Amino acid sequence: MTRESESGLPIEPVYGPETLAGWDPADKLGEPGGYPYTRGVYPTMYTGRPWTMRQYAGFGTASESNARYKQLIANGTTGLSVAFDLPTQMGHDSDAPLAHGEVGKVGVAIDSVEDMKVLFDGIPLDQVSTSMTINAPAALLLLLYQLVAEEQGVSADKLTGTIQNDVLKEYIARGTYIFPPKPSLRLVADTFAYCKAEIPRWNTISISGYHMAEAGASPAQEIAFTLADGIEYVRTAVAAGMDVDDFAPRLSFFFVSRTTILEEVAKFRAARRIWARVMREEFGARNPKSWMLRFHTQTAGVQLTAQQPEVNLVRVAVQGLAAVLGGTQSLHTNSFDEAIALPTDKSARLALRTQQVLAYETDVTATVDPFAGSYVVERMTDDVEAAALGLMARVEELGGAVAAIERGFQKSEIERNAYRIALETDAGERVVVGVNRFKLDEEEPYEPLRVDPAIESRQAARLTSLRAARDPAAVAAALAALRAAASGPGNVLYPMRDALRARATVGEVCNALRDVWGTYTPSDTF
Ligand code: 3HC
Repeated sequence: MTRESESGLPIEPVYGPETLAGWDPADKLGEPGGYPYTRGVYPTMYTGRPWTMRQYAGFGTASESNARYKQLIANGTTGLSVAFDLPTQMGHDSDAPLAHGEVGKVGVAIDSVEDMKVLFDGIPLDQVSTSMTINAPAALLLLLYQLVAEEQGVSADKLTGTIQNDVLKEYIARGTYIFPPKPSLRLVADTFAYCKAEIPRWNTISISGYHMAEAGASPAQEIAFTLADGIEYVRTAVAAGMDVDDFAPRLSFFFVSRTTILEEVAKFRAARRIWARVMREEFGARNPKSWMLRFHTQTAGVQLTAQQPEVNLVRVAVQGLAAVLGGTQSLHTNSFDEAIALPTDKSARLALRTQQVLAYETDVTATVDPFAGSYVVERMTDDVEAAALGLMARVEELGGAVAAIERGFQKSEIERNAYRIALETDAGERVVVGVNRFKLDEEEPYEPLRVDPAIESRQAARLTSLRAARDPAAVAAALAALRAAASGPGNVLYPMRDALRARATVGEVCNALRDVWGTYTPSDTF
């Protein structure tokens, strides 16, 4: 009996040679590390070195998060990944009225270069690669990182890492936007140009499908809407006068991995093939690095259950395996208790150990793209690719990603799929172990990690002393220069860096930009 995949595609009970009759591996696959990169972006993939084990972490003040990063490094993590609290993500200082109750909650509170120095205290920035999950104020946090490196004596051309910087998906699924789309896209293009000139090894954006998937997007919707956002960013930078090969090699992506391994592997392979063809055929990119879709994966948070939380260890292991078989460059494995609270030190370590078992105890790193030539996976790669291309064509018909967002197209497609999933789950047709089948009569108690509520007042005190110690005239002049730049065509990151170096705060810099660009309020079609 044929089953339906997450994207609504058929999965046959048996496949045979006829599945691949007439199927041309040279066209469909290419060589590992070669166009169209279906088999992975590097010729050797994990046979030389495993993917980057990059655990998303951050909570409380910079010193609490600094301690967690050092613990992760001590346990073998190979890349850092900073979670910021909502006030930072929304460009408000910790002592702003809107920040009350959220300081240090879902990530670390960063108000100034002084906090950033504490966050990376004892961590040499020329020896780590750091991802920062920050979007609307991404440029500011990158500049704060550069200023900390400057004070460590590390030159900007040595810095490696990524800023998420993907505001379009914030309008679709996550919501931490500040400015309207036009100035937001200008800021992204300014960041591309700034990094090309000042921080050339930095990945300037992590175009994300993860949050759309968490909001209910199917695998085909996830890659279609993400790649459509990618096309919008490329068009924006080209329209701003950049050559596509000047910035495309430093674009990166971010996807989810679900427990449905076969379709997830097909999804990753299809995404690489679509992007390679879009970059070479549509944008005429000539540098092979512009054709490569390099991505980070996080295991599906939405599939974690609060019931029998230890069962999540199994889900995360399966999801992590899907990401590895799909050729991810960087991976975050969720902690089993994250459906309940922030990970404890022990659960965070166990999440990392899951990746180390995949990398060092299995044989999936011994060969490149193990599913190549598989009847089912090659068939599903083609099917997911076709479904995604169909959705991308519909976005194009609406005028591209921004126009479609303003029509609420992506959001309504995702919500429709989320509703289908909810109905199937409620009806028991979609099994969630421990939730709608194999339940316990009584859940066992679990003691979560709690964030100290006194963090907010401690962070406010740091802001008071920072404002007392700085030169107010220098800050005022730097913010005025930033407003002037934001009103004109110049690259705003240079006056922004001067303001932050003068100890202007994240909130003050974002308020200066709000004064000029205004803020975004979704249209009622959202
Ligand atoms: N052969 C040759 N070279 C190789 C290689 C191989 N097999 N493997 C790696 N390398 C090289 C690469 O070329 C690269 O060198 P370069 O920088 O000079 O080009 C270097 O080794 C590092 O390799 P990668 O670039 O593949 O790996 P990184 O880990 O450095 O980068 C990335 C991966 C996807 C490109 C990058 O953008 C990244 O790290 N992204 C992470 C994004 C992230 O962590 N996001 C978290 C989001 S959490 C969130 O959103 C919040 C919540 O709501 C979920």
